[in-house]
Amino acid sequence: MKRPFDTFLAPMAGVNDFAFRLICKEQGAALTYSEMVSARGLASGNAATRELLFALPEEGPLAVQIFGHEPALMAEQAAWIAADFKRRGQALALIDINMGCPARKIIKHGDGAALLTHPGLAPDIVKACRQALPDTVPLTVKFRKFDKIRHFGFAPEAFMPRQVGEEEILNQVQDDLLSGTPYRVSPSSWEHSIGCPRVEESRADANAEARAAEATLHFAQDLEEAGVSAIALHGRSARQMYQGRADRELFGMVAQTLSIPVAASGDVFSTDDIADYLSRGAAAVMVARGARGNPWIFRGEPPTLEERFAACRRHLELLAAYQPQHLITLRRHFAWYFKGVRSASALRVGLNQCSSAADFGRVLDEYEEALTAGGQAAATQAGSAPTAGQTARPDPTSLEGVG
Ligand SMILES: Cc1cc2nc3c(=O)[nH]c(=O)nc-3n(C[C@H](O)[C@H](O)[C@H](O)COP(=O)(O)O)c2cc1C
Repeated sequence: MKRPFDTFLAPMAGVNDFAFRLICKEQGAALTYSEMVSARGLASGNAATRELLFALPEEGPLAVQIFGHEPALMAEQAAWIAADFKRRGQALALIDINMGCPARKIIKHGDGAALLTHPGLAPDIVKACRQALPDTVPLTVKFRKFDKIRHFGFAPEAFMPRQVGEEEILNQVQDDLLSGTPYRVSPSSWEHSIGCPRVEESRADANAEARAAEATLHFAQDLEEAGVSAIALHGRSARQMYQGRADRELFGMVAQTLSIPVAASGDVFSTDDIADYLSRGAAAVMVARGARGNPWIFRGEPPTLEERFAACRRHLELLAAYQPQHLITLRRHFAWYFKGVRSASALRVGLNQCSSAADFGRVLDEYEEALTAGGQAAATQAGSAPTAGQTARPDPTSLEGVG
């Protein structure tokens, strides 16, 4: 059963291997994204980075997400990806630029969400990539809500457009302090990572939230003007990582103001969540944590036990055939496929001993036997499968902290 609207598998580093993407496609995902790929890593010919671009023809058109902060280098690599896909006969749906990843190892280099603090740079990256890509390849950006704690750059009208170095930012903060503006400079680890001190408004400032919303909208409009075909907005700030609720009101405001399509990301765990975003003007809805171990969210019906085993075996076969060096990642994928199922903790113990395809196959067989034939003995720890179209909401503190 295919949905009458577009649900995408959101980009997820460490999750979206080619096998998982194919499984999601087969369950009805309209579009799937690669893991984020370092433009610099590609440029330096890093083998592990290039591996992330591996795709099967059966996957259909793939959305490839890149990250970086240097316009010329990103443009060159975007064009290289387009040419490489063409050479391989693999369809490229679009190139997306990551401007939302809050992981420290990303933002400390000025990539991902750090670009939100340099709003003059983001349109430059878009323009350079747009110019370098063939007209047939759409260019998009995925980013996050701006922070209500103001940074230089978070207020677009106050920002210097290009080549902003840390010293210049510091100078401007100091100028403001000298001129008597009531700002308190208080760098936290996040600010240190992005090399951009925050400028905290007085607590009496009731407009902080409205100003963050406005800055988010301005940023989106700048991207539109710079030539992106569409954007995706995750309604959490980078500082929030995955905590708190994604801001759907802000999403709706941005989606309804822009002329280009706006895709939604943030807290999509059920068909109701998807419908809610669509009612707010989403052109498409991205499923991220809600799809881990639950590709069936795309068809809108929960899996049977047999389907969970079939997905695991397919994932195993595909990885063993094409990327056996990554078999170990099946430990987490299998644990996700069986999240909430009886005796899943016993399965996880078994998985932790697995490294070869034979190991994974054997542990699956044993678990299946325990659940079906000898089910009583194994059913020491009761649990229940996720309900229709839903998966359990994850504990945000247990995330890998990437993306
Ligand atoms: C493990 C993990 C990896 C992620 N990797 C990426 C990434 O590579 N690129 C990106 O734009 N977003 C990444 N994200 C963010 C998701 O695409 C999505 O925007 C976010 O999880 C919010 O959606 P959710 O609340 O429905 O999970 C990642 C999220 C998770 C949980």
